[in-house]
Amino acid sequence: MPAVMDLKIQNLTNKDSQQKVSGLQSIPVLEIKDLSISLRGANRQEDHTLVKKLNFTIRPGEMLGLAGESGSGKSLTASAILGLLPKSLHVSEGQIEFRGKNLTRLSEKEMRCIRGKEIAYLFQNYQGSFTPFIKIGKQLIESLRSHEKIRKADARKKVLFWLERVQVPAERIFSSYPHQLSGGQLQRVSLAAALMFNPSLIIADEPTTALDVLTSKKILDLLADLQKEVGCAILLISHDLKHLLKRANSMAVMYGGQIIEKGLTENIETNPLHPYTKLLLRARSVLTQTVPGKLAVIPGEPGLVAKQGCSFTLRCTKSSEKCSMVPEMQLAEDSHCTACHNLETEEGN
Ligand SMILES: Nc1ncnc2c1ncn2[C@@H]1O[C@H](COP(=O)(O)OP(=O)(O)O)[C@@H](O)[C@H]1O
Ligand code: SF4
Ligand SMILES: [Mg+2]
Repeated sequence: MPAVMDLKIQNLTNKDSQQKVSGLQSIPVLEIKDLSISLRGANRQEDHTLVKKLNFTIRPGEMLGLAGESGSGKSLTASAILGLLPKSLHVSEGQIEFRGKNLTRLSEKEMRCIRGKEIAYLFQNYQGSFTPFIKIGKQLIESLRSHEKIRKADARKKVLFWLERVQVPAERIFSSYPHQLSGGQLQRVSLAAALMFNPSLIIADEPTTALDVLTSKKILDLLADLQKEVGCAILLISHDLKHLLKRANSMAVMYGGQIIEKGLTENIETNPLHPYTKLLLRARSVLTQTVPGKLAVIPGEPGLVAKQGCSFTLRCTKSSEKCSMVPEMQLAEDSHCTACHNLETEEGN
């Protein structure tokens, strides 16, 4: 791994870094610009910001992995895109541009037309996506017909087609109640329910966390394979780095409600720049190596976020006086960027 000292670092505005991170030229499906999400206070001054000034872009056919420990703001970001933030929270700054439309300006009625159809989603709690006492086939047909003008017989055909595509026994699952299916089958059905609308974007928030390791792997592989066929964009959210490293084209790592590193997955994996990303990667390699090595544990608690300066200061072994100032995003030579003051002096460990 090259020493970080050798990398040319330049200060950038968020907009510049966003354009340079991806070599892909197509028009983005989703552009998140300076997005902040806050807990409402009695007035604007008393708002408490939970997610701060996020910037990222996803293009057609791209899978962007959003990584970070529990509580880093991944699900809030997903909820904001889907217009599903709880009433106590709001988008306090920035824009969510989906195919040229700023979603933060749309009414709930307009969002309902986009959500589930143009932007599909898969959640960890797949059970909550189904009504218990209605057969799967009926639920999927109703869902399809609520968004599309389609005859019942054609809707049935389309549902059966997608159940086959997600590799479940289509006819049997079609006539089953949700409780008769395993967790893995239900999540496959959720994937069929997402894909049957031919969405431009799928948001998958920890879609396999409740499943066993083998089932998780199979479902994520299926998601990646079907994406190649249909060409949609995917935002894959996971606290488990190995899922993202294997499948995502690009990644954004969050800590304390901020993106602290982003870029192409291969560059982040081979040349992580931020101390937190390095620790995440090392913690992962300890779990995957066959011969036990030096224990790599990220010091401190996941929720330990500094109120001033760099949010990682309280857990960072590299922190120095400069870290009492918020670090700017900087671009490295390999076109990925990070927010840390001490890159030049780090020896790439
Ligand atoms: N409805 C809410 N009200 C207040 N704080 C919330 C709410 N939902 C999430 N949070 C806080 O926002 C932060 C980010 O949460 P979340 O996006 O769920 O994290 P992640 O998905 O990365 O685990 C956490 O500190 C969490 O406690
Ligand atoms: S800015 Fe300072 S505290 Fe933050 S990650 Fe870099 S070295 Fe650590
Ligand atoms: Mg979450």
